[in-house]
Amino acid sequence: MTPATRAAPRPADLELRYPVGQCNSQGDRMRQGLAFALGYLRNPRRVGAIAPASKALAQAILHEVLRAEPQVLIEVGAGTGAITRALLPALGRVGRFMVIERDPGFAQLLRRSFPDLEVLNHCATRLDALDIDLHAPVTLVSSLPLLSMTREEARGCIDAMVALIETRPGSRLIQYTYASPHLRPFRDIPVGWRWRRAASIWANLPPATVWTLEQASHPSLVHNAVH
Ligand SMILES: C[S@@+](CC[C@H](N)C(=O)[O-])C[C@H]1O[C@@H](n2cnc3c(N)ncnc32)[C@H](O)[C@@H]1O
Repeated sequence: MTPATRAAPRPADLELRYPVGQCNSQGDRMRQGLAFALGYLRNPRRVGAIAPASKALAQAILHEVLRAEPQVLIEVGAGTGAITRALLPALGRVGRFMVIERDPGFAQLLRRSFPDLEVLNHCATRLDALDIDLHAPVTLVSSLPLLSMTREEARGCIDAMVALIETRPGSRLIQYTYASPHLRPFRDIPVGWRWRRAASIWANLPPATVWTLEQASHPSLVHNAVH
């Protein structure tokens, strides 16, 4: 087939053609933005944002991840990999780095961009199906748009994330939101746990707040305390 007779690419072909995880050049960033925008058009409620995380947000999340020494790092809702890429320096410090993404197109893109990572095309509600040692401290990084997805899906994802960290001592959940910096990602947290506001990133579009759900270090702390 000559170039003149070749069929025009469909949006689904366009978004799958480029590994975008390396994103070194402006062109790479534009392709990542395009892939993300197409994902948003496919399912706006589930993608929950019109642009990938900024470098500033991704760096703030890396900084928060490196505050602890988890054995297992899991990113849920990795999209086109903007945060995944920023988390690569943590790879040498964790035993395992798993990436969970529900959208098959994004999951395929992530596999091609990060061939050394375990990329699973799973729903976050199925975190219980992962084969993870009960003694391994886990840091879970979530980009899930809990406020825009359906209430049932959000509930299922929250329950699965909390169950994963609650059963493994030393585990934490890092979740960012685009809501008011005073609004915690969700309220029903286990007794003895608290939300800590780790960073506010005004340079992100839209501005984002990074929260960490962790066990309170002192028993006298109120379980919902915000710092
Ligand atoms: C805000 S976007 C992620 C953005 C990503 N951190 C980035 O900056 O490129 C949310 C992602 O969560 C994924 N997602 C939504 N619901 C999910 C679920 N139940 N399980 C796994 N992934 C889910 C969406 O497909 C989307 O890629």
